[in-house]
Amino acid sequence: MTEAGPLHAAALAVVHEAAFPPEEVWDEAAFAGLLGQPGIFGLLDRRGGLVLARVVLDEAEILTLAVVPSARRRGLGRALLAAALARARERGATAIFLEVAAGNAAARMLYTTAGFEPVGLRRGYYADGADALVLRRALAPEPHESEQQEPEQQAPEQQLG
Ligand SMILES: CC(C)(COP(=O)(O)OP(=O)(O)OC[C@H]1O[C@@H](n2cnc3c(N)ncnc32)[C@H](O)[C@@H]1OP(=O)(O)O)[C@@H](O)C(=O)NCCC(=O)NCCS
Repeated sequence: MTEAGPLHAAALAVVHEAAFPPEEVWDEAAFAGLLGQPGIFGLLDRRGGLVLARVVLDEAEILTLAVVPSARRRGLGRALLAAALARARERGATAIFLEVAAGNAAARMLYTTAGFEPVGLRRGYYADGADALVLRRALAPEPHESEQQEPEQQAPEQQLG
């Protein structure tokens, strides 16, 4: 997995074109423009996958995630998503959002099993009129993930009460 900059825009566009229907494809200029903006980062996997995300203050957003058809169902999408979540957390995000077409069963299953939950609905969001679900996942470390947190100790009076 490579950190993608504007110089990777052509390769990113090839992956996007293979993964999305024509009306949703982002071209080389679109990727170059996005990756030149502050807060946006991208990851490119040479097996044929990409993810772009944006971090603004403590909130992140997945802008696009794509795996070419010939590389699907081998864990690449999940790996790209996990890497983007980790980077967003490193950059200070405590929550991450995304939009997914209500009828995109593959992506919805991926996001649900990655801990995303629906928080909104955008009717007619996509060019074809499809609705988008807005999904959210917290990124703050869970208490059990923290190495510094001591196990909770109960005071003796609480134990008696
Ligand atoms: C969504 C997408 C990125 C998944 O990529 P992938 O590399 O095939 O995903 P993975 O192999 O990591 O699969 C992860 C999980 O997603 C779910 N999933 C993926 N494809 C699925 C499908 N066709 N049907 C049902 N669930 C599916 C499964 O839960 C899967 O876990 P499992 O294989 O253990 O059952 C890919 O299908 C894609 O590029 N689609 C077109 C673009 C798109 O819709 N992007 C998301 C826009 S929000």
